[in-house]
Amino acid sequence: EQKNHISQLIQSMTIDEKIGQMNQAAVSIVGGFEVPFEELIEMLTDGRISHTEFEKIMSTAEQDYHEDEIRAGKVGSLMLQDAKKANELQKIAVEESRLGIPLIIGLDVIHGFRTVFPIALAEACSFEDELFVRTARMAAKESRKQGVNWHFAPMIDVSRDARWGRVSEGPGEDPYLVSQFAKAKIQGLQGDQSSTENYVAACLKHFVAYGAAEGGKDYNTTSMADSLLHNVYLAPFKAAIEEGAATVMAAFNDLNGVPCTVNQDMLRAVLKEDYGFEGFVVSDANGIRECVTHGIAEDEKAAARQAATAGLDMDMGTGLYSAHLKTLIEEKLVDESLLDEAVTRILTIKMWLGLFAEPYVEIEEEAEVPQNNTQLALEAAEKAIVLLKNENNLLPLDRTAKISVIGELADMAAEVVGAWSISWKAEDCVSVLSGLSAQGERVKYFATGGLTSPLDENKLKEALAYGDVIVAVVGETVSMSGEAASRATITLPGSQQRMLEKVKEAGKPVVAVLMNGRPLALEWEHQNVDAILETWHLGVQMGTAVANVIFGAANPSGKLSVSFPRVTGQCPIYYNHPNTGRPGGKSKFTSKYMDIENGPLYPFGFGLSYTEYTYSNLILERFTDSIRVSADIQNTGQRQGTEIVQLYVRDIVGSIVRPVLEMKDYQKVTLLPGEVRTVSFDLPKQKLGFYDNKGDFKFEDGEFLICLGKNSQEYLEEKITIIFD
Ligand code: IFM
Repeated sequence: EQKNHISQLIQSMTIDEKIGQMNQAAVSIVGGFEVPFEELIEMLTDGRISHTEFEKIMSTAEQDYHEDEIRAGKVGSLMLQDAKKANELQKIAVEESRLGIPLIIGLDVIHGFRTVFPIALAEACSFEDELFVRTARMAAKESRKQGVNWHFAPMIDVSRDARWGRVSEGPGEDPYLVSQFAKAKIQGLQGDQSSTENYVAACLKHFVAYGAAEGGKDYNTTSMADSLLHNVYLAPFKAAIEEGAATVMAAFNDLNGVPCTVNQDMLRAVLKEDYGFEGFVVSDANGIRECVTHGIAEDEKAAARQAATAGLDMDMGTGLYSAHLKTLIEEKLVDESLLDEAVTRILTIKMWLGLFAEPYVEIEEEAEVPQNNTQLALEAAEKAIVLLKNENNLLPLDRTAKISVIGELADMAAEVVGAWSISWKAEDCVSVLSGLSAQGERVKYFATGGLTSPLDENKLKEALAYGDVIVAVVGETVSMSGEAASRATITLPGSQQRMLEKVKEAGKPVVAVLMNGRPLALEWEHQNVDAILETWHLGVQMGTAVANVIFGAANPSGKLSVSFPRVTGQCPIYYNHPNTGRPGGKSKFTSKYMDIENGPLYPFGFGLSYTEYTYSNLILERFTDSIRVSADIQNTGQRQGTEIVQLYVRDIVGSIVRPVLEMKDYQKVTLLPGEVRTVSFDLPKQKLGFYDNKGDFKFEDGEFLICLGKNSQEYLEEKITIIFD
């Protein structure tokens, strides 16, 4: 019935109306304030104005919502986050346009809408698929109420280079963890279809290999063999499409010389044909026009032709489909059947969203964030915290100790939200300082500066004189990670390291609370600071979560979703790299740098706890299609804790060089002090195949090393020979 409805609609559409569906119009600022919009964004990004000031200015701005074009059937989609406006525009689309087709309204809801959860890189450290589902579902419900029915999320770019600012937006370096995250997010965003209020269309981005930008520099070129592309960068997209993802966004970068916006091999052959993707593909913002800058299209018209031919269904914001597709059809340079295909896909998703039946949302007065959202934000934040170092069990701290809190980030509530947060409210954010002050009896803040302002040595002296313990909140502001925020040096910015050096000289015990959107190079900090907590940008409940861990109400259980280098020059660094003929070792002629110890500072999967776990008794059992891997895990410490048990495999000999290790599964177990639990994994043989350089998936008989352990460097291991049938 739905198919009939869509094909009837398509038959009755003019070419202009079809092109209209393929056009996401950019809501543009047309005036109402003095500073040009681009500069305003720059000012927000570099901190000259606060988020609140920005919002105030924006509320006075005059915007062009393209009402006349919507009425004429020339707009299929918009970006928006305002329920009243959404209803107004839907009304024009549904009641005043000739065919009454509703708009699909998209927004960057990356890690929460009003309730901001940890950035994806942090959330992934919880290794908890079910949590990934719940946070996504909450974001879907909150945003749909505001008329947003399409999220430009999840961002599932595998990212292995910490210099790249967008590392913060995705779940890290490992294709397996990223794939699990991707599937869970699809379930969360799209899965509850009991009412149209409960789900949105997801958008997988950025298709594909954007995370491999050369040198970690945003928008940079990518090139790679088919094996790497399929085994690593495409894997999460394939998994999420099998889970039913509704839409996909083409990446900015070129892949092997062809920008993804016009990459027919990727969009058509891989995505739509091999993977059987039935939703629609949208470009990234300005993506079609940038094909001219890339030098792949001689002009904008050629760019529109190439994109439509490649299978790009919707233009985000350039207006080039609207400007050129009709002429291209008249000139027989584009076949109208391409438009029919694109429009069928777009209308299918609109219908699946229930927009034809229920285009409007109920307008509610702005309410307080419900308590259960806050609880979920707190749970997600606590589970994302990774304890990197805890010399002499400095943590947890005694609530009655005199604690000096230093570092600007401690008192910057707005920095808790992390990159790409749009719909949050300042009053919801709990800074680290307010979290600590609410629980510690003698917590005092000293405004030492050191990040966005010079280090105030006098204030630091006061802090050192007061505290029995120093809690230094250090790291990056929100604008230092995210889009267009690559860094060539990823040590602590500003004078933050100098501040820690001074604390060290004074001999006071110090806890570094790291607030950052990427792995940092912390060689000095690791050697000199007593305790290090990786707390990322944890969302609105950050301060409470950090305080719970610092004072021991919560036992940290997160494990790193990404490797930490010792120095920036090691980037890209990731655990599952292919083996070399000369693996790094003591002898000179091995693969390493002369001036730095080999390997990461903190490996993928690493994270400490306030208790200890020991692993023993690894057993492998063969079944026809799988291997059962089990081991005993014991909590040998004094506290209850949750351990993330990790299963890795190494394919010892392959027809192409295989990674030194690959994660295949994980499980969380909560253990009381002294408790022993046998943890078992069923490892299907299917998981032992890989893509070769022709893009073919194959299984190769031979020996595999099976590893079960705490992280990608500490595990029990045993070999097994596998013969595939
Ligand atoms: O979704 C984003 C994308 O990740 C980067 N460019 C802009 C898009 C829409 O805001």
